[in-house]
Amino acid sequence: MSENIIYCYSGSGHCLNMAKSIAQVLGDTDIVMMRSYPAKTDATEAKRVGFVFPCYGGGLPGDVEDYVKAIKIAPGAYKFAVEQFAGYMGCGLHKIDEIVGLDYWNTISNHSTCIWLMPHRLTIPPTSKKTAQERIDRKALEVGGAVRAMKRSEKKPPKNAVFALESKGFSGINAKNIKNFKANDKCIGCGSCVKICPRNNIQLVGGKPSFGKNCIGCLSCVQYCPKQAINVGKITEKRERFPNPTVSAADLTQKIIHID
Ligand SMILES: Cc1cc2nc3c(=O)[nH]c(=O)nc-3n(C[C@H](O)[C@H](O)[C@H](O)COP(=O)(O)O)c2cc1C
Repeated sequence: MSENIIYCYSGSGHCLNMAKSIAQVLGDTDIVMMRSYPAKTDATEAKRVGFVFPCYGGGLPGDVEDYVKAIKIAPGAYKFAVEQFAGYMGCGLHKIDEIVGLDYWNTISNHSTCIWLMPHRLTIPPTSKKTAQERIDRKALEVGGAVRAMKRSEKKPPKNAVFALESKGFSGINAKNIKNFKANDKCIGCGSCVKICPRNNIQLVGGKPSFGKNCIGCLSCVQYCPKQAINVGKITEKRERFPNPTVSAADLTQKIIHID
């Protein structure tokens, strides 16, 4: 059993990159992915239990809220969370705090990977990809140091009714967009989208991806397609992709990643 466990959700690799950097500061850490039902829900032997995740639609991505409810943590364990967002932090941290009772939390703005909504460049303050990554690396060191020392946050994560409402409405907006996923002529039928989908929602039919109705909108298939052939309607055709350069499609599909 590792001394630390970090539960991570990541669609385009940025949160996994950050979870790995925090784990490197801590040492002896299991990063358990929450893209599908977490491989390990018994965290009772861990001294520190963390959550690293993005804001999606003002709230938590996919089924993360239900997954966190299933995790068993020892009463005396130290609990921390870090959220990435583009423009605003939403209610995700507050929801996690309600479930597990956080000792420490932190946030960082990164480029938006929701490219059907906007080009990825949005950050607060606006930054290049390189500067955004440098800020995240610095934040990971800060968080890693704080968590190693079991620092406590003075305030609780803010509660915001508007974001809670937005996150409820997001699944409807998402459902609309799911209908618009399509592979264009650049598709070579390599099946990488089939492998990366956390919901087994994509199948190759006649050598081309066919999208089912079980999509959670993580956009991994769009962001990681080697030919940039998958689009959400027409709007993403000319928009640059931004998967984290240090995280491969294969990394994202791991269930548990151990960092010594
Ligand atoms: C479907 C989707 C919805 C998002 N919604 C929000 C949002 O409501 N507010 C926000 O500030 N950022 C939003 N983002 C931006 C992500 O929080 C940000 O890009 C994060 O760094 C992505 O991390 P990841 O690569 O680990 O998935 C959204 C991204 C996606 C893909």
